[in-house]
Amino acid sequence: PYLNSLLSRDCDTPQLNPVMEPLSWMLGTWLSDPPGDGTFPTMKPFQYLEEVHISHVGQPMLNFSFNAFHPDTRKPMHRECGFIRLKPDTNKVAFISAQNTGLVEVEEGEVNGQELSIASHSIARISFAKKPHVEQITRKFRLNSDGKLEQTVSMATTTQPMTQHLHITYKKV
Ligand code: HEM
Repeated sequence: PYLNSLLSRDCDTPQLNPVMEPLSWMLGTWLSDPPGDGTFPTMKPFQYLEEVHISHVGQPMLNFSFNAFHPDTRKPMHRECGFIRLKPDTNKVAFISAQNTGLVEVEEGEVNGQELSIASHSIARISFAKKPHVEQITRKFRLNSDGKLEQTVSMATTTQPMTQHLHITYKKV
C-alpha cells in the first residue's frame, strides 16, 4: 500500500504507455452482464458472476484481475491475476496469469482490432493440484459494438479434448 500510495500521489493517472495503445479497449472495471456460462463435458452447466479490473501504471503492460463469484451465494470462486504485454511495434501479445487453483500460465497470441486471441504456451501447477489437469487453454477477448467486453475460454484436459469452458460478457462500470 505504501508504494501504491506513492504512485497515486506522484504519478496521478499516469499516461498509457504508447506501446499498449492497441489494447486500450480492455482497460476499465467490468462486471458480468448477464452472468457467465460455464460448461464442460464432465460437468453440469453453471453460471457465475465476475468482476474484472484491467489497469496500468504507465509501464508497457496492463495489470489484470478476474474474480468470479457464485451467482446466488456470492461466495468467491475462481480468481486470477497477472499482466498482459505487447511486443513493441507488433501485434504479438503475452498473457501471464496466476490462478487460485494453483495454476500458472503463459498464453501468447495476437491482437487484431478490438479482438485478442491467445493460446497457452506454458502451464505450471502446484504438485497437489486437483485432477484432471489442464493441458491447453485458449481465450478470446473482444470488444463488441455495444461496448461490452466478451471473453470465451476453452481448454483441453487429460481426459477431454479442447472444449469451451467459459463464455461471459461484461459491462463497463
Ligand atoms: C472445473 C479449469 C476458470 C468454474 C474445472 C476443471 C478444470 C478447470 C480443469 C475440471 C474439469 C473436469 O473435472 O473435467 C479452469 C481454467 C480456468 C477456469 C484453466 C481459467 C482459465 C473458471 C472460472 C470459473 C470456473 C472463471 C467460474 C466460477 C468451474 C467449476 C468447475 C470447474 C464450477 C466444476 C467444479 C470443480 O471442478 O471445481 N475448471 N477453470 N472455472 N470450473 Fe474452471
